[in-house]
Amino acid sequence: MSAEFPEARPRRLRRTAALRRMVAGTRLHPADLILPLFVKEGITEPQPVPSMPGVVQHTRDSLRKAVHDAAHAGVGGVILFGVPAVKDGRGSAADDPEGVVQKALGDVRAEAGDALVVMTDTCLDEFTDHGHCGILTPDGEVDNDATLERYAATAVAQARAGSQVIAPSGMMDGQVGAIRAALDAAGFAHVPILAYSAKYASGFYGPFRDAAECAPQFGDRSSYQQDPAGPIGEALREVRLDLAEGADAVMVKPALAYLDILRQVRDAVDVPVAAYQVSGEYAMVEAAAANGWIDRERVIMETLVAIKRAGADMILTYWATEVARRL
Ligand code: PBG
Repeated sequence: MSAEFPEARPRRLRRTAALRRMVAGTRLHPADLILPLFVKEGITEPQPVPSMPGVVQHTRDSLRKAVHDAAHAGVGGVILFGVPAVKDGRGSAADDPEGVVQKALGDVRAEAGDALVVMTDTCLDEFTDHGHCGILTPDGEVDNDATLERYAATAVAQARAGSQVIAPSGMMDGQVGAIRAALDAAGFAHVPILAYSAKYASGFYGPFRDAAECAPQFGDRSSYQQDPAGPIGEALREVRLDLAEGADAVMVKPALAYLDILRQVRDAVDVPVAAYQVSGEYAMVEAAAANGWIDRERVIMETLVAIKRAGADMILTYWATEVARRL
């Protein structure tokens, strides 16, 4: 063996922390992170979400505080989910000017100022008594086109109340176009749409349904969300349709089990791409860490770096404030 062997020594650049930091190809920044927040109507104390240790359903006051902390840590944005006191078949609270999200938006915008972006999830599942993301037909199917009108009204109500980005998550066909047209007609042509374009029917949403109290009362969401084993190319098709309908940015959801999709989307589009590290991804790490089975902080950072490396410009994560502080 010659003295020069091996010729290539990749370890040279890994030798010190300073070297590794200098050559890093993936860097997380607090502004990449978006914090999902739940606000519940009619409670006087924040309610812990058992399946998401560290996450709560907020009161209007505790929500303000959470937004303040996120802004202070440099988080890029927050996305609001509402839990109304009263639900019905059409999700009336979703577009009620006095609805829980609309009321919270005023507080949150005042608190956030220009420090971070205030976004809203636009869907009906938190507001319907049956827990589906749309209006039902008499035989219990989700009625795509009737639902579009409800999404459009909800998006306009949110924009009117101060939402700075509308993020439709219901996976109805044509939802981006319907919302874009309604926003434009109502004088909100300047409000962008972040489309949940490739959203899979996922078991990883389990804990969220406790947090948002929106588990479907019958059936599941497989007739509107994408099949994890669905047609190759389906995600790109959804993304292209959303862009053609006017989406300003697109999202892949969940994140960790769909990094291949994230990379495909990143390579195919020239708009910002978001990924949602969902409730079940959070719960798995927290549960394993609580048992002492994994190094919590290390794994959190590793998952976020992986999501960024796969192509996400923005990451929705329940750890946003904590991680932004650490960065
Ligand atoms: C639908 C919505 C869901 C999530 C975000 N928006 C739930 C669902 O589709 O069942 C899940 C987020 C998470 O699991 O963290 N409004």
